[in-house]
Amino acid sequence: MPNTREHPPTAIDIDQQESEAKQAMVDSLLENRQLIVASNRGPVNFTQDADGQFSARQGQGGLVTAVSAVLKGHEATWIAAAMTEGDRLRAQEAEESGETLITPHGTDSQFKLRFVVPTEEAYHRYYNVISNPLLWFLQHYLWDTPRSPDITHQTWTAWRDGYVPVNQVFADEIIVACEQFDREPVIMLQDYQLYLVGGMIREKRPTAIIQHFVHIPWPDPDYWRLLPIEMRQGICEGLLGCDIVGFQIPDHGRSFMYTCEAYVPGCSIDYANKCVQWKGRKIQVRHYPISIDADAVRKTAYSQEARAYERYLPTHWNEFTILRVDRAEPSKNIIRGFHAFDRFLEAHPEFQNRVNFIAVTQPSRMDVVEYRDYLDDMSATVGRINAKYSNVETGWQPVQIIMGESYARVLAAMKWYDVLLVNSIIDGMNLVAKEGALINERSGVIVLSEGAGAAMQLGHDALMVSPADIEGTAEAIYTALTMPIRERQGRARRLRRSVERDDVSVWFRDQLADIAEDAADHLGSADAPGAEVA
Ligand code: G6P
Repeated sequence: MPNTREHPPTAIDIDQQESEAKQAMVDSLLENRQLIVASNRGPVNFTQDADGQFSARQGQGGLVTAVSAVLKGHEATWIAAAMTEGDRLRAQEAEESGETLITPHGTDSQFKLRFVVPTEEAYHRYYNVISNPLLWFLQHYLWDTPRSPDITHQTWTAWRDGYVPVNQVFADEIIVACEQFDREPVIMLQDYQLYLVGGMIREKRPTAIIQHFVHIPWPDPDYWRLLPIEMRQGICEGLLGCDIVGFQIPDHGRSFMYTCEAYVPGCSIDYANKCVQWKGRKIQVRHYPISIDADAVRKTAYSQEARAYERYLPTHWNEFTILRVDRAEPSKNIIRGFHAFDRFLEAHPEFQNRVNFIAVTQPSRMDVVEYRDYLDDMSATVGRINAKYSNVETGWQPVQIIMGESYARVLAAMKWYDVLLVNSIIDGMNLVAKEGALINERSGVIVLSEGAGAAMQLGHDALMVSPADIEGTAEAIYTALTMPIRERQGRARRLRRSVERDDVSVWFRDQLADIAEDAADHLGSADAPGAEVA
């Protein structure tokens, strides 16, 4: 007799059902609501040619790449700062011709764009004094606290006449964009440059659905005390103007709740249900680990441009190749990575002449003195290591820095490594580790910092290191280079599958599914704006 009994659903069936249910919620949300995304750096930069014609070029960076990938196929509006002269000219042209939303021709984007154009002085204070040195350094624990930071008159001016007003301009422009549509908006704010925007929009549009995703770590309340109360409380309250605040990993969300509890009068925290109750509203604190667009990354990695790089990159390889890929950025811990390699060569001289360490590096935020100094220190450290080990007879130079921005070259290089070193001090996620896991063709091993958000997903199959542990990192390099091939293959296969399974579309879908649930609460509540609490 045939067995007609149905099998109980497997974990895969349940995952599949959940993911279909989430997708259905997202589709219905996007049918009924207008999506508005705001970030400091925009998805494209404009340049104007001699005939006055504008052309658009895709913006750079992890945030822009991820958000651009997920917005494909959606009619979103993107609000961003005009960062280049071309952007400012394009924004001016739009203003003069009454073009509220710009369509960036010449890219495959479907979104429309609206530029925020603060004065150059206000923007400098907001970006080069507060966002990058102050907030970025705070949130990555980068200060040598007996010496820095100094919150001076200049910092206060930058806060009051830079960060606050630029956030206000963003809020105002978002409200203008909202008014272009009949449908109610869903506003998705990105990152640390825009912490005050949610609260500012809430004042004018109490029923808006606002979500803020913080791409970088959130430190503990004690460390936030290095910022004066007006700043740290303002930041928390700005975020509490949103309905959902998202982080990369649960630890960062928990630190945010602790910080609110410590510095926002009148708020109460429900740690079990991960929400903050404040001024009669309930704010959800969630985590959504960002990822890469696996198909798009593969497409670039096997593009003609990448293949062209593959022809000359082998001049950098050796019998063993260690690779790292980063912006020249203190939080990436590049210098300690070089010291670890130095220690590895010292402890295992049998590898001398046979291993190359290639650092693909992109200069970044050169208006900030700490970044310029870090780049100088990187070069000096490499010089010292090369002087110590170089072999004049064979021409061997153990460390080589490749400078530049080409993403195709980065992916071409990633195919080849035996070891990918990702030893960041702390990192919101670190997408380099995910790109490497997906693209590498040599069953390379990832040496990964415990401080990288990616450790939550990849930690089991990478070799984990504590970021300040030079000796431990040197040992991890040795373990990786001497690991039996079958173990390398197993780890590499599991890493690749993990990245394929949770690509960036999951990051976006899960956020929108939570927003859809929240929107349903709003509509269900008799007294919008939000799920009112006692
Ligand atoms: C990286 C970080 C983002 C951050 C961005 C800012 O992409 O992952 O969290 O927003 O840098 O960089 P930018 O060059 O735009 O200042």
